[in-house]
Amino acid sequence: MDVGGKFGQSFVGRISAINLSTLEWAFGRHGDIVVALVGIVTGLMFVLLFVTQRKKLRLPQGPRSLPIIGNIHQLGNNAHTFLWKEAKKYGPIMYLRLGSEGLVVASSAEVALEFLKVQDKVWAGRESSTGMDMFTYNHLDIVGAPYGPYWLHLRKICTMELFTTKRLESFRPPRTDEFNQMIKSIMDDVEQGKIVDLAVKLGHVAMNNITRMLLNKRFYGLDASAQHQAYKFQELTSDLPNLATTRSMGDFVPWLKWVIIVSGLKSRMMKVKARADVLLQEFLEVKKNRKIINVKNDDVHYEDFVDVLMAQPAQDGTGHLSDNSIKAVILDMLVAGTDTVSITLEWAIAELLCHPHCAKELQAELDEVVGKDRIVTESDIPNLPYLNAVLKEVLRLYPPLPLNVTHVALEDTTVGGFDFVAGCLQVSVAQIFV
Ligand code: HEM
Ligand SMILES: *[C@@H]1O[C@H](CO)[C@@H](O)[C@H](O)[C@H]1NC(C)=O
Ligand SMILES: *[C@@H]1O[C@H](CO)[C@@H](O)[C@H](O)[C@H]1NC(C)=O
Repeated sequence: MDVGGKFGQSFVGRISAINLSTLEWAFGRHGDIVVALVGIVTGLMFVLLFVTQRKKLRLPQGPRSLPIIGNIHQLGNNAHTFLWKEAKKYGPIMYLRLGSEGLVVASSAEVALEFLKVQDKVWAGRESSTGMDMFTYNHLDIVGAPYGPYWLHLRKICTMELFTTKRLESFRPPRTDEFNQMIKSIMDDVEQGKIVDLAVKLGHVAMNNITRMLLNKRFYGLDASAQHQAYKFQELTSDLPNLATTRSMGDFVPWLKWVIIVSGLKSRMMKVKARADVLLQEFLEVKKNRKIINVKNDDVHYEDFVDVLMAQPAQDGTGHLSDNSIKAVILDMLVAGTDTVSITLEWAIAELLCHPHCAKELQAELDEVVGKDRIVTESDIPNLPYLNAVLKEVLRLYPPLPLNVTHVALEDTTVGGFDFVAGCLQVSVAQIFV
């Protein structure tokens, strides 16, 4: 299945969580003054600190870094491409600096295996940032919780209750419904000679797919439940994923933490977080009340993720998972499970349009396996190797989370003869290639 070569220049690689446009913004507007002032004072100090650290530790090589900001300025919009190129020079374990944090980039299967499998418990910490701390209710979610009893508890709920084959299968009808509604709306647009805005449609399907699973609600399209709520929800989710994953200069350089406040970023985050909290709490309260009514009316209650979460005990095995934990997990899935999916599909269509011979081959496979009389379904997927290859290639070329979710060493460790320290000034963050 040689889709790889056909999609032109191939590249791999990805790292941590920075919204570079925001970095630029925070840095560009207020940063020049900031850097001028703080730079003079701390530049020398930092270089000294860095040099002494380098002496003690055997660190991997990496591209030259500037004082204070390190390599942040080099990452640009296509960080994974930059890292892929640099890794060719510096090898499968490469070291960069993002402000005062160290960044380790793993770029081969063996090295990835060492970080993520052999040493998975060592590299099971998560980075801290203003957005991450705020939107995860201080790491009460799945993505942001460090390895430990709490994360294990959530993980167990996920594997035993949420992401079971049976549960995911029970959400197949709403998923299929969303899919069919999208196809219909595309056909309608085509019939009316309208331009099809696929990005918008894919975004809506991805969001409805997740919210029907989470809350048994859809917030986009016709008959979206409770229009007023839908409006509030749409307003919220337009800012949410970006803000929650934004890391600004102040997150990387402790002395510049105040930039997050001065630039207004923190207050924007706080506003959106407050809106999210109110809306999510409303959902929880409705569910708490409905439970009582249901018991009375002997209704069959359609069980969604939030119902399941609300029925789980807290970490110590007693009582219930706290509202904050549940809200953190909901936010996780809204952030992790929507844009990732729709952006990947958008790139897939874009690449297929640019490579008609691949599109033709894919169409031929679909015609042969599915035929022209019905719509493709989830159960067809294992029988569509070319489709699978196309999607893997798209994820390789356009990883939707190139620098967003990283691993932090919880204790000092050695990988490939190099030393990495936990905590202190130099937090080591590893991100592995796809
Ligand atoms: C194309 C689609 C997706 C991509 C590319 C993607 C990518 C990722 C990546 C790179 C990570 C970090 C893994 C690591 O720790 O090294 C992650 C974690 C996670 N993703 Fe996704 N994801 C996708 C879809 C989804 C969906 C649909 C959901 C759920 C509704 C989801 C929920 C999560 C959660 C809960 C974690 C945290 C796991 C943990 O920390 O234990 N993701 N994802
Ligand atoms: C990941 O980070 C980039 C900036 O590095 C940001 O633009 C993007 O929205 C983030 N992706 C997701 C899915 O949160
Ligand atoms: C719908 O959600 C499921 C479960 O998280 C996921 O596997 C699937 O990719 C999603 N589909 C779309 C179109 O978003």
